[in-house]
Amino acid sequence: MANDIFQFFDTPFVIFILLIFFVVIICCYWLKKQKNEDADKIPGPCSIPIFGTRWIFYFGCYKINKFHEFYDDAYKRYGPIMREYFFNIPMYSIFERADIEKVMKAPSKYPVRPPTAAIVAYRYSRPDRYSSAGVVNEQGEKWHNLRLSLTSELTSPKTIANFHAEVKNLARDWCREIKSAKCHSGAVDNIANLLLPLCIETSCALILGRRLGFMCPEKLPMKFQKLGEAIKNYFICLRDTQHASPLWKYFGSASYRKMMKCEDQIYDTVLNIINESNGENNIGTVYSSIINSNIDEKEKIAAIIDFIMAGIQTLKNSLIFLLYLVAKNSSVQRKIIENPGYAKACMKESFRLLPTATPLARILEQDMKLAGYQIKSGSVVLCHNGIACRNEENFDFPLSFIPERWLGENVHKTSTIGTFIVIPFGSGKRICPGKRFIELVLPIFLKKIVTNFKIVTDDVLDLQHEFLLSAKEPLSMFFHDR
Ligand code: HEM
Repeated sequence: MANDIFQFFDTPFVIFILLIFFVVIICCYWLKKQKNEDADKIPGPCSIPIFGTRWIFYFGCYKINKFHEFYDDAYKRYGPIMREYFFNIPMYSIFERADIEKVMKAPSKYPVRPPTAAIVAYRYSRPDRYSSAGVVNEQGEKWHNLRLSLTSELTSPKTIANFHAEVKNLARDWCREIKSAKCHSGAVDNIANLLLPLCIETSCALILGRRLGFMCPEKLPMKFQKLGEAIKNYFICLRDTQHASPLWKYFGSASYRKMMKCEDQIYDTVLNIINESNGENNIGTVYSSIINSNIDEKEKIAAIIDFIMAGIQTLKNSLIFLLYLVAKNSSVQRKIIENPGYAKACMKESFRLLPTATPLARILEQDMKLAGYQIKSGSVVLCHNGIACRNEENFDFPLSFIPERWLGENVHKTSTIGTFIVIPFGSGKRICPGKRFIELVLPIFLKKIVTNFKIVTDDVLDLQHEFLLSAKEPLSMFFHDR
């Protein structure tokens, strides 16, 4: 047998094939080196075959839920640009204002934000439910058509103005919820448990144009009750598939299977909610504009799901961060009550310090010089706007919560510096269509809460990467009646 093998390798044909194979490998390696000569000099963690630089997360240097700390440290260690390999794909992280501005301002007909692979894979595997990956994850002309057909009502100032009274009702009802949930000392043990129903109710009210009762769990139909948990788990599964080896695409994985289950649960619940509206189609609501748009029926359901989903966790995290900062800086609470515009300044400052959706990613459409290195078009670039916002080169006392930056004579300087870094909703054509709505909601909620309660917390915020930047639960707060 061994003899046969030696005889086989002895044949000139096999030797010739092996020779060609090695020549091809050497040429590929040489070409790759030539092509990326500049990019190869970019500092970054050591890359190993197959895993690239992901070993950092596998061998215990950083936990996956402390992803943000890895990038904080990377900036200190490597400077304005860092190269990493997501398995074999190079990715570049940029941390400084000028470079972030360059990427965000790059002219593009259809800007490309790298899609969330697990959502795309799942939606394309379910043609019975989806006819695209949806506006959040589609690209090119398809994205453009979805964006045009679906977001005009959502971004219209008229829709937002019509929603003003409902936001006040939501804030009032939530204060009632706090009153009944807090104990004698005023403590609420896990603020997230109270905020999640508010955020689901707010998102559904905006998109569907009606209240569903998520803030009265005892009256909420059983079929809706699992929505909050499904959404939370969904985001965690997205994080886990995003960081895992791409082999899940071929063989599946526990987190991908769980993500599919969550997406199905969310889909079924939202479909139920839509069906329960019994054909109610209030003109002027986001819901009616989607239902009446000239797109495939499946796209309409997907859009309603995407819009409801996009708003819940982002709003919850942003509201927790805002309440936390205000609770820790109790002197601002009186100013919120007394000065019009102060609540909005608190919101902006909170977005500067703790944006939930960061880093912002783009795929370059042309070669670009970043931090002195030439980066090829087609490269994935992560813009760490949050880190740039906490850099003293951009803001004085960058780690302090100072809403006054956004008021009076300071506002011009802060806004100019912040144009391309204080971008919690992204920037350019792919900017979040929910921005206007959230900017209406947050100051109203904040003002109502601090008018009713003096809020205090002894806890220290522990940030967690759960696809979005989130607060580790439980985070307790005291709500003392005013
Ligand atoms: C505090 C709340 C929110 C934050 C911080 C937030 C943040 C973001 C960010 C950073 C992006 C990516 C933008 C970019 O790549 O330039 C985005 C995209 C998006 N957001 Fe939001 N968002 C929030 C709420 C909402 C709400 C309420 C909705 C819908 C009602 C929504 C719908 C979307 C959609 C559809 C996209 C994809 C846009 C596209 O690719 O064209 N978001 N959001």
